[in-house]
Amino acid sequence: MKFLGKEISSPLTLASGILGISFSSLQRVINDGAGMVTTKSLSLEPRMGHEGPIIAEFEGGLLNSVGLTNPGIEEGLLEIEKFHQACQGVSIVSVFGGNTQEFKQLAEAVNGSPADLLELNLSCPNVEDEFKRPFALVPEMVTEIVSAVCAVSSIPVLAKLSPNALDIGEIAGLAEAAGADAITMINTLGHGMVIDPIAKRPVLRNNFGGMSGPCIKPLALKLIHDVYKTVKIPILGTGGVSTGLDAVEMMMAGASAVAIGTAVYDKGLDVFSLAKREMDTFMREHGYADYPELIGILEEN
Ligand SMILES: Cc1cc2nc3c(=O)[nH]c(=O)nc-3n(C[C@H](O)[C@H](O)[C@H](O)COP(=O)(O)O)c2cc1C
Repeated sequence: MKFLGKEISSPLTLASGILGISFSSLQRVINDGAGMVTTKSLSLEPRMGHEGPIIAEFEGGLLNSVGLTNPGIEEGLLEIEKFHQACQGVSIVSVFGGNTQEFKQLAEAVNGSPADLLELNLSCPNVEDEFKRPFALVPEMVTEIVSAVCAVSSIPVLAKLSPNALDIGEIAGLAEAAGADAITMINTLGHGMVIDPIAKRPVLRNNFGGMSGPCIKPLALKLIHDVYKTVKIPILGTGGVSTGLDAVEMMMAGASAVAIGTAVYDKGLDVFSLAKREMDTFMREHGYADYPELIGILEEN
C-alpha cells in the first residue's frame, strides 16, 4: 500500500518519542513489520529535557514529562542517513520549534536529508513552562507554522495535533488549508497526575505529564473519526494502539496508517510483528484483500 506516495509494507508505524533516533532501533522496527518509523522530535539545538522521574506507570497506561530531550537536528539527520543506507523503510522526521522561524529552519534541514516525510510536533504538552500553550491549541499559530513550513518543504508535511484542542476538527481543517499533506493524531492527553500516597507527592518530578496508552484509545478513535469526516488529507492515527485489532479499529475510524507508542514499552519491539500478524489474520478471515479497504469504513449507528 502507499502512504503519501510512499510504498509501505504495512500501515504500522513507530510513534515519535518512543525509541529515540538511533538508526539501528529504527531499522529493527522495520524488520519487525512496521512500514514507517517516526524519530523523536528534534529541535535546532540539543535539549536535556526534564529531570527524572519523567515516566510514571498507571493501570491505564503511562504518564510522561520527558520535555523533548533530543540531540538536535544535525545529529538526528545523521542517523536518518544511516537508516536509509541500511533498510527500505519510510522515515518520518519529527521536529519541534519554539516559533515559526525555527520550524522553517528545521524543515529546510530535513529537506536537505534523505528523510521521506516531515512531521511537525505542534502538540507537546510537556514544555508549556518554556513555550506556553502548545501551538496545536492556537488556531492562528497552526495556520502560520504550517503555511511557513509548506512553503519551503518539498517533502510531504504532517501536522501532529493535540486531543486537548476544543475543536480538533477545526484545527485539522486549518492545517489542511495551510497546506499540510496529512494529520498525525493524537499526541498525549492532559496533563494527568500519578500520586505516591506514602510520599504524599506526585511520582513525576515535574508533577504532571501527558497521558498515553490504552486509556486514551477510545478518545483517539472518536477524534480520528471526527477529523476523518472533516478533512480530505490522510490521517496517521495514534493513541493507545497495542494490538492488530486496535489498529484495524483505528483504520476503520478513518486512519490511513497507525502509529504505536506506549505499547512498545509494555510488549517490546515484538509488538509490531504480533500486531501485523493479527491484522493480517483479521483481514483474511473477514474478506479484506488489502489494508486500504479498512480506511474509514466504520458505519455509525
Ligand atoms: C515517553 C514518550 C515520549 C514521547 N515523545 C514524543 C515526541 O518527542 N514527539 C511527539 O510528537 N510525540 C511524542 N510522544 C507521543 C507519542 O508519539 C504518541 O502520540 C502518544 O503517546 C499516543 O500514542 P500511544 O498511546 O501509542 O503512546 C511521546 C510519548 C511518550 C509515551
